[in-house]
Amino acid sequence: NHNLAIAIDGPAAAGKSTVAKRVAAKLSYIYIDTGAMYRALTLKALRENISLENESTVYDILKNTTILLKQNKDSQSVLLDDQDVTEEIRSQQVTNNVSVVAKHGAVREEMVKRQQDLAAKRGVVMDGRDIGTHVIPDAEVKIFLIASVDERAERRHKENIEKGYNSNLEQLKDEIRKRDQIDSEREVSPLLKAEDAIEIDTTSLSIEQVAERILQVVLDCK
Ligand code: C5P
Repeated sequence: NHNLAIAIDGPAAAGKSTVAKRVAAKLSYIYIDTGAMYRALTLKALRENISLENESTVYDILKNTTILLKQNKDSQSVLLDDQDVTEEIRSQQVTNNVSVVAKHGAVREEMVKRQQDLAAKRGVVMDGRDIGTHVIPDAEVKIFLIASVDERAERRHKENIEKGYNSNLEQLKDEIRKRDQIDSEREVSPLLKAEDAIEIDTTSLSIEQVAERILQVVLDCK
């Protein structure tokens, strides 16, 4: 049985999803974007105008929410209670608020349960912040991607411009720093490199090079 679980963690905008998608495609594995799940919940909480700091209210919303990661032929879509929110969950407003929603213990417990169900059959590449430490602690391959804030902000900036979005480099740096800080300092399963994770600094590497390194780790492990 060659179906492994591959956990890819790291700070905001380190290229996790781009690399994870590529690795999943190469191996014909399923890609699971756990950040999209926290983003979808954040969008719903914002729409319902509740206080995001209120753990029990946010948790109540989650209990009555379905979040589906749908694999299309060449892309993925995110369905929030059957509504396609793929684009909307990338908005500034969601990005700037998601880390507050994601720090609640009750919310994380429920999300981790859902994510573990998705990973139960293996053959998955899952990216996030706590995959190697909490969601799939027994993943056969654990990767921790890092890059400097400047590098991450510049990549995101380029990406935004290519997509025709408004983008401000300094603002991106601030946003990334803030998100990293909340994600690293929260009490429940903070962003942390698993002891047995392989760290890859992507600063001077292309997406292809990072994907190649991960595929090599997978090969070595088979
Ligand atoms: O991966 P992405 O940047 O889309 O994740 C958005 C946010 O969701 C993160 O900044 C973090 O607050 C939260 N998150 C998390 N645990 C995960 C994935 C994402 O707390 N496994």
